[in-house]
Amino acid sequence: MIVIDKKKSKKVILLNILFIVVCGGIFLFLWNAPPETTPKFLHSTDHDDLYKIKKKKAEKLCLDCHKEKGTAPIPATTYCTNRCFFCHKKEKK
Ligand code: HEC
Ligand code: HEC
Repeated sequence: MIVIDKKKSKKVILLNILFIVVCGGIFLFLWNAPPETTPKFLHSTDHDDLYKIKKKKAEKLCLDCHKEKGTAPIPATTYCTNRCFFCHKKEKK
C-alpha cells in the first residue's frame, strides 16, 4: 500500500514550481543580454594568414602589429590581454 504524505507532496510541488521559475528567470536574463560589441577579428589582408593557422599559434603573433608601437596599436584599454580570441571572434565567411 502506498502511503501519501499530503504535506510532503505539497512541498515537492512547491519546490518544482520554484525550480521552473528560477530556470525561466535565468533563461530570460540570457535572452535579453545585449548584442556583442567587441570588434570582430576581421578577415582583412593583414589577418588572412592568421585565419589559416591554429588560434593558439595565431594569438602569439597578434602583438607583432598590435603592440603599442606596432602598425595598429591596441587602444589603451586594460582588457586586451593575450587570449585575444576569447573576445575577438573570427568573422564568419
Ligand atoms: C600583419 C599585422 C597584423 C597582425 C599580425 C594582426 N593584426 Fe589585427 N589589425 C591589423 C590592422 C592593420 C588592423 C586595422 C586597424 C585599423 O583599422 O585601424 C587590424 C585590426 C584589428 C581589429 C579591429 C577590427 C575592427 O573592427 O576595427 C582587431 C579586433 C584585431 N585586429 C585583432 C587581431 C588579433 C586578435 C590578431 C592575432 C590573432 C591580429 N589582429 C593580428 C594588423 C594586424
Ligand atoms: C577580455 C576581452 C578582450 C581580450 C582578451 C582582447 N580584447 Fe581587444 N578589445 C576588446 C574590446 C571590448 C575592445 C573594444 C575597445 C573599445 O572600443 O574601447 C577591443 C579592442 C581591440 C582593438 C581595436 C579595435 C578598434 O576598432 O579599434 C584591437 C586591435 C584589439 N582589441 C586587439 C586585441 C589583441 C591583439 C588581443 C590579444 C593580445 C586582444 N585584443 C584581446 C576586448 C578584448
